[in-house]
Amino acid sequence: MTQHFKLYINGQWVDTNEQLEVLEKYSQDVYATVAKAGEKEVDQAIASAEHAFETKKLSSYERYEIIKRVSELLLEKQDKLAIGIVKEAGKPLKQAKGEVVRSAQTFEWAAEEAKRITGEGVPVEAAPGSENRMAFTIKVPVGVVGAISPFNFPLNLVSHKVAPAIAAGNTVVLKPASATPTTAIQLADIFEQAGLPAGFFNVVVGSGSTVGNQMMKDKRIKLYTFTGSAEVGLKLKQNTGLNKLILELGNNSPVIVDKEADVAKAAQLTAEKSFAFAGQVCISVQRIYVHEDVKDEFQAKFMEAIQTLKVGDPNDPDTDVGPMIAEKEAIRAEKWISEAKENGAKLLHGGTRKGPLLEPTVLVDVHKSMKVVCEEVFAPVVSIIPYHDLDACIDEVNESPYGLQGGIFTNNINTAFHAAKKVEVGGFMINDASQYRVDLMPYGGVKDSGSGKEGPKYSIDEMTEERLVVFEFGIKK
Ligand code: SIN
Repeated sequence: MTQHFKLYINGQWVDTNEQLEVLEKYSQDVYATVAKAGEKEVDQAIASAEHAFETKKLSSYERYEIIKRVSELLLEKQDKLAIGIVKEAGKPLKQAKGEVVRSAQTFEWAAEEAKRITGEGVPVEAAPGSENRMAFTIKVPVGVVGAISPFNFPLNLVSHKVAPAIAAGNTVVLKPASATPTTAIQLADIFEQAGLPAGFFNVVVGSGSTVGNQMMKDKRIKLYTFTGSAEVGLKLKQNTGLNKLILELGNNSPVIVDKEADVAKAAQLTAEKSFAFAGQVCISVQRIYVHEDVKDEFQAKFMEAIQTLKVGDPNDPDTDVGPMIAEKEAIRAEKWISEAKENGAKLLHGGTRKGPLLEPTVLVDVHKSMKVVCEEVFAPVVSIIPYHDLDACIDEVNESPYGLQGGIFTNNINTAFHAAKKVEVGGFMINDASQYRVDLMPYGGVKDSGSGKEGPKYSIDEMTEERLVVFEFGIKK
């Protein structure tokens, strides 16, 4: 029987007349129904978060204990949560299990960071006339955090928004992606079991144009944390006035394979990291720039590595590449591939589609103006691009409007650090592909890839205000 999920507002499970159907992304059958929030429910969720923030304070130790317990419960429920992610996101089982483990770690680090929220001493007495003063800063929570999360990590990218917000002493209204809302609703249940008081975490489900729009115009929300497209990120920026924003937006991640690289390692890692979760990861490898001297060797080893990828049913524990989030997205990617081919690109692998399942696709002879290169493809599609001169290659890499993460494979330390300084990104990997993330690290891009950082320690910084306290003690010597 299809499972039904309710909204979570002020510690209550709330049903509504309108329902949203969540499809199982591989079979395209209806997997679940979810109550759809209207204006009233969004308003209630924000009011309850504001009321909780104003009336109940949890000490940092209490926050630590609750968040730590959430981390433990996530691991206890790993199998059930992972199966839910497989169904609603189409993510292959082994990657879904990995996501639950990462999410437990995100909560654990947020719990630890809750105990380390400190300000600093400010030596105001160094200024003439301030000899009888002492000063320090404290970090205070911002208030209600509006979190809008994407479909591609229905648990861990929700965790990256919610765990640090609660650790910092804020309350949260979450709008999960409407394609994958059920995992976030299960997280509300876990928070309840962990003892989070009513109103601290609220989940409202609906489209961006209704729920999202209402949230972005509500002045009770003091900070927005969003992962998604640059287009929606810009809309948030234009509609949220002077509010604080953490924006994790798109990317068309570059990886450079230098002539002094370990080519076998580069081929293996880029092959894995171009197609994980069907390329629907903001740091998926999309553009591989390979030095002419090692291009043939790299290409041969890359093609060998992708032969080992198992494509198909995400429920199968051996599957590496499953369906995309929707057939229309796979059709869009297929069109971009066709456009590239019409303009001279050659297909080394893949290019075929069955429903939402697009084969891992490798293109060569591409041009930088093709959409598969210059836009975020967010599909299992990668281009191999030869280069001769490293600086010219880096200039081409930097022509992208995006800059989230990138990487270089090289055994030459000078080349590695030269590239690390010149490539315009928020995170740069040496001897790994762009798709490297552990959840304690600062994560966020430059240019159209966004602003602000994730990673519990860094998000807590964004989600608190530094307040200066100056004490005049009246004794003059
Ligand atoms: C993202 O798609 O931005 C998240 C990547 C990750 O957490 O591994």
